[in-house]
Amino acid sequence: MKKVVSLLLVLLLSVSLIGCGNKNKSADAEATPKVGVTIYKYDDNFMSFVRRAISKNAEDKAELIFNNSQNDQAKQNEQVEMMISKGVKALAINLVDPQAAATIISKAKEADMPVVFFNKEPSVEDMASYADCWYVGTNSAESGVIQGELIFDSWKAHPEWDKNGDGKIQYVLLKGEPGHPDAEARTKYSMETVVDKGIQVEELELQTGMWDSVKAKELMDAWLAKHGDSIEYVVANNDAMALGAISSLQAEGYFSGDKFMPVVGVDAIPDALTKIEDGILVGSVLNDAANQGKATLELVLNVAKGEAVLEGTEWKLDENKAVRVPYVPITLDNIQIAKDCYSE
Ligand code: BGC
Ligand code: CA
Repeated sequence: MKKVVSLLLVLLLSVSLIGCGNKNKSADAEATPKVGVTIYKYDDNFMSFVRRAISKNAEDKAELIFNNSQNDQAKQNEQVEMMISKGVKALAINLVDPQAAATIISKAKEADMPVVFFNKEPSVEDMASYADCWYVGTNSAESGVIQGELIFDSWKAHPEWDKNGDGKIQYVLLKGEPGHPDAEARTKYSMETVVDKGIQVEELELQTGMWDSVKAKELMDAWLAKHGDSIEYVVANNDAMALGAISSLQAEGYFSGDKFMPVVGVDAIPDALTKIEDGILVGSVLNDAANQGKATLELVLNVAKGEAVLEGTEWKLDENKAVRVPYVPITLDNIQIAKDCYSE
């Protein structure tokens, strides 16, 4: 056994030596620095658009090493170590677990490596614990408030949606990943906004669908079996889950004839836009994947080259070293804005 292990070691060593030998290939390594990127999992609809935007903006500018962390923080930690050992100049990290920022920061500190977190926001304390880290994302609360406004406006325009005529919205809510700042803020602010604007609400169900269509469909199946037509509104923390709920509703005969159920989401991904055009989805909130990907790449590229983080960009940092790309309410009236964002 020992022999096999040492043989393997020799092999590995020679492979890495050969690797080193080839490394001198590019004279302009500085011009296109190596940057390590992790995505918390590749099969997240929204993140696939962010990933695409990062790649597109990196063309001829950086050599990206992409990692699918497969929703496993331990795996991501190993990927970070691996990338550091491969000589990346900076890291762009989409955490699996937003609470794990400290672990990544300690590895980065040790290697003197700048880090740009994106999409899953670390705590204020973690952000403050390391000068060479930044965040690119959104103001999570804003998406909740905008979604609440969409719910309020649509409800006002459709008195017939109050099926039991009690003046309250009986709703079910599909929550994203618990502990994710976007999921927490959207859950809190969407219905709070509706109430603040003067409509009473009653929560029939609230559970996590983990941002995922299939899980959301299963939940919606169960809720429809339990509450049927007493449900008056379906509120989803993202479009993937709104789409899952819609397929459950369609299987129960909704959206044909006069059987309707209002559903709202967040992200405004292309599949959701189609549903808005078909008159099925009430609206969504544009989560600007194109600009979040662009900002992530621009910041990480700057620090990889040892330049000031905002050098040559249009972005601004807030007091927590965060670039926050604005959300936009999307309905049929202004759907083109979202189409343009996702067509890039
Ligand atoms: C998006 C979700 C996505 C999540 C991943 C959120 O900002 O709205 O669709 O699943 O980020 O972290
Ligand atoms: Ca009602």
